[in-house]
Amino acid sequence: MKIVYAATVALLFAIPSNAQAPLPQLGKDPIDKVIDALTDEEKVGLVMGTGIKGFGEKIEAVGDVDGRVPGAAGNTFPVTRLGIPSIVLADGPAGLRISPTRKDDPNTYYATAFPVGTALASTWNLSLVENVGKAMGNEVKEYGVDVLLAPALNIHRNPLCGRNFEYYSEDPIVSGKIAAAMVNGVESQGVGTSVKHFAANNQENNRMSVNAHVSERAMREIYLRGFEIAVKESQPWTIMSSYNKVDGQYTSARKDLLTDILRDEWDFKGLVMSDWFAGYGGWKDLKDNNFSSDVVAQLSAGNDLIMPGMNAQRKAILVALKDGKLSRETLDKNVKRVLELILESPHFKKYKPSNKPNLKQNAQLTREAATEGMVLLKNDGALPYSDKTKQLALFGTTSYNFISGGTGSGDVNEAYTISLLDGLKNAGFKINSDLEKLYVPYTADLKSKDDERRKKEGILALAKRFPELQLERDAIEKAAIDSDFAIITIGRNSGENGDRIVSEDFDLADDEQHLINSVSSAFHKRSKKVVVILNVGGVIESASWKDRVDAILLAWQPGQEGGNSVADVLSGKVNPSGKLTMTWPVAYTDVSSAKNFPGTPENDPQDVTYEEGIYVGYRYYQTFGVKPSYEFGFGKSYTSFEYSNLKIGSKTFKDNVKVSVTVKNTGKIAGKEVVQLYVSAPSKTIDKPKMELKAFTKTKLLKPGESETLTVTLREKDLASFVENKSAWVAEKGIYTVSIGASSSDIKQSAGFDLPSEITVEKTTKAFAQDKSFTELRP
Ligand code: BGC
Repeated sequence: MKIVYAATVALLFAIPSNAQAPLPQLGKDPIDKVIDALTDEEKVGLVMGTGIKGFGEKIEAVGDVDGRVPGAAGNTFPVTRLGIPSIVLADGPAGLRISPTRKDDPNTYYATAFPVGTALASTWNLSLVENVGKAMGNEVKEYGVDVLLAPALNIHRNPLCGRNFEYYSEDPIVSGKIAAAMVNGVESQGVGTSVKHFAANNQENNRMSVNAHVSERAMREIYLRGFEIAVKESQPWTIMSSYNKVDGQYTSARKDLLTDILRDEWDFKGLVMSDWFAGYGGWKDLKDNNFSSDVVAQLSAGNDLIMPGMNAQRKAILVALKDGKLSRETLDKNVKRVLELILESPHFKKYKPSNKPNLKQNAQLTREAATEGMVLLKNDGALPYSDKTKQLALFGTTSYNFISGGTGSGDVNEAYTISLLDGLKNAGFKINSDLEKLYVPYTADLKSKDDERRKKEGILALAKRFPELQLERDAIEKAAIDSDFAIITIGRNSGENGDRIVSEDFDLADDEQHLINSVSSAFHKRSKKVVVILNVGGVIESASWKDRVDAILLAWQPGQEGGNSVADVLSGKVNPSGKLTMTWPVAYTDVSSAKNFPGTPENDPQDVTYEEGIYVGYRYYQTFGVKPSYEFGFGKSYTSFEYSNLKIGSKTFKDNVKVSVTVKNTGKIAGKEVVQLYVSAPSKTIDKPKMELKAFTKTKLLKPGESETLTVTLREKDLASFVENKSAWVAEKGIYTVSIGASSSDIKQSAGFDLPSEITVEKTTKAFAQDKSFTELRP
């Protein structure tokens, strides 16, 4: 791998000749003075990262990202003579991703693997997410990183997207609120975030080139709304544009997206960076150094920082400056935003990282956060299970090799992962040792082979499912005699650069179905219970097998303390209070985007058409009467709650309306409840989903008999839809129904209010001109 320092050398010769005059310094002199003192080469250096190693001979870099913080994803370009240091950017959404060890250094640099994004969102607990953000942000700062490349909040458009685990929900309100809490937490530590991937990056198949055809309404209501909330409620330091195209143009080169909407309409003040190597159609073009003038389009559109940065791009910008294709004003604007980011950074402020974040304390936090994100999908009296005198039978390779998080840039290099086996043992449970003796060596062998494969394939290696151990019938029968209770773990993993498939990934594989069947029949014959733990990053099929087991606990990918967290919930130490942030369909074919995923042609998708429009997730299932296996917002508890006293501030809407409801714990153990507020609009002139989530909140830990009254406020925009031919958010007049639910189908109380006349809530700039005509789904 050749690293070329050409541009650095060029800079030495480009310094202006009046070396006597004191040079302006960043932070001491006005920023515009610093910009005036920069040469063209330096400006071009600044709007680009310093490169990255290991991506093929022809991609040249001018710096070394492995310098200050090995394993970070990128650096900005330093201009030392003007007091401009390089700052460090590192992934990712489940915690800081850096190399855990360094050459000739006895110290370790492990970071905490927190629960994946989906697990965090399933808590519906904004203050908890903010606390996780604080802990992550602290690790970022103490390890000398300036910007965390997270959170990621693309919509779960389709359950097969390989990165759904990094994302939060099929619903933009949940996504936006959770993202804002995360940004506020991370940034409270004085480090930055990069809210990604902006926008409509809803699949990994051909992610660098696929053209997503999306209507302006679906963009604004579904795919942008979460980003809008995050920007308005947390003003992140940076945003990362996505790889894909929308309506014929790379998002990283779309002025309507990055300037008109993001900055002018939403008032975003920070910097936009590209995703790594975005805008060139894929690795092949990159390796051939096959550049179009995209880099100029990117800078002009408001994508200020091109990551990770390549020499060919630098040359292209310099040529464009000379030819007048890129104006100096535009470049200066981009440079200014880069400098403003650097000014905020801990590195610029000379913060001395300790390299010693409090990993013990953060392990405790991730353990707690994971328990709160777990969703109890089914419980026929099997849980909680706290008998420590009897034996538990642990089935499934994943029980012995727990999955803390997904693969790729969303992965974290943590010091350890607690398996379910260890978690249960730590909690004092007795485990069937015959099974343990069979599973442990079998899983260890699979794991070491898989680790080797992944090491060889690098960061973009895709996850593979471990085949189940083929247990003899007698072994299962014996386990059912010896043990009191069975646990089967089903595992799934995935990551960037690849989507999941239906067979053996969304659907259970035959060996898994067989395991569930044989364990259930052996245990049920003896009136013993069977619990399934789902250690998955995304939705799987559940309808065909759920009746065969007594309880299902969706543990997600719960971070490094996973096994301990599951044990806390199984044993009843923690009462589960997570709820689904996405629908679990009966069959994959029930998904509204199923026939348009991953696009056409199917084996090499160039185009993907969002024909389902705004009818994504529960908006579709509810409106079109398709019954799911588990609905959006669903999740059980070990206790029960009663809802009462729904009050709407006023019968007539004016500016806003306050809604309050009382929730009482009517069961025998303490618990928390997620309260969801849905609105159904009159839908006379605008087609609308049957109902849409507009607000949510969570009770404190309610003791048996205890109640809490919760209040949320609905504002004009919560009633509005985006009307394309008016380029406006419009709330139509009529009666609106507010429904308070324990899930999207379990509505506890409803009431209405009247909007006496139509309101134009916001006028917008025309955006996302269609490059393909298609008919959108309508009820
Ligand atoms: C991913 C981003 C990540 C970046 C840097 C890209 O492949 O899509 O999410 O932040 O790499 O590692």
